[in-house]
Amino acid sequence: MGDFGITRDQLVELMKRHITSDHLWKHSLASEAVMRKLAERLGEDAETWGLVGLAHDIDFDETKDEPAKHAVIGAEILRSGGVAEKYVNAIMSHNEAIPGWTPRSAALEHALASSETITGLVVATALVMPDKKLASVKSKSVKKRMGQTAFARNVDRNAILECEKISVPIEDFCALAVEAMQGISDQLGL
Ligand SMILES: [Fe+2]
Repeated sequence: MGDFGITRDQLVELMKRHITSDHLWKHSLASEAVMRKLAERLGEDAETWGLVGLAHDIDFDETKDEPAKHAVIGAEILRSGGVAEKYVNAIMSHNEAIPGWTPRSAALEHALASSETITGLVVATALVMPDKKLASVKSKSVKKRMGQTAFARNVDRNAILECEKISVPIEDFCALAVEAMQGISDQLGL
């Protein structure tokens, strides 16, 4: 668990009390997988960065109709569950709709925003493949979809591009994300 504050098992138990949708579990697991790969690439702690990805939307089923509260409620849940403040803050930074939000500056903040967002683009790319499988997705196709703003239009390309603020070119980031998600394709059901 590094200095995250709680173990993965403890985090999963906490998440089970708040996450009600299968879709959100899959998004959380995908975000964890991408964060782990990104940490490995950057020489950061993969376990801890993975836990940040896994935890980031813990309140989303409860706050999805109140965007200003998303990640604020989550921060309270995580803090009282024992997650270290440094990681709670990084998780709050992924929701730009929080009043008083300040632009992300730490590597972990950019990493979370780009990682959790690219999961949506990779899933959308898989779903238009003939077999709808992640195994069929080429990272070049994901890169191409970055420029097609009508495709998966609710996926924020600017958030994904924050990977470049931590010195990971978008081509590499697409490859890394595809590989990470293919590694848990059974859990993602894709
Ligand atoms: Fe998310």
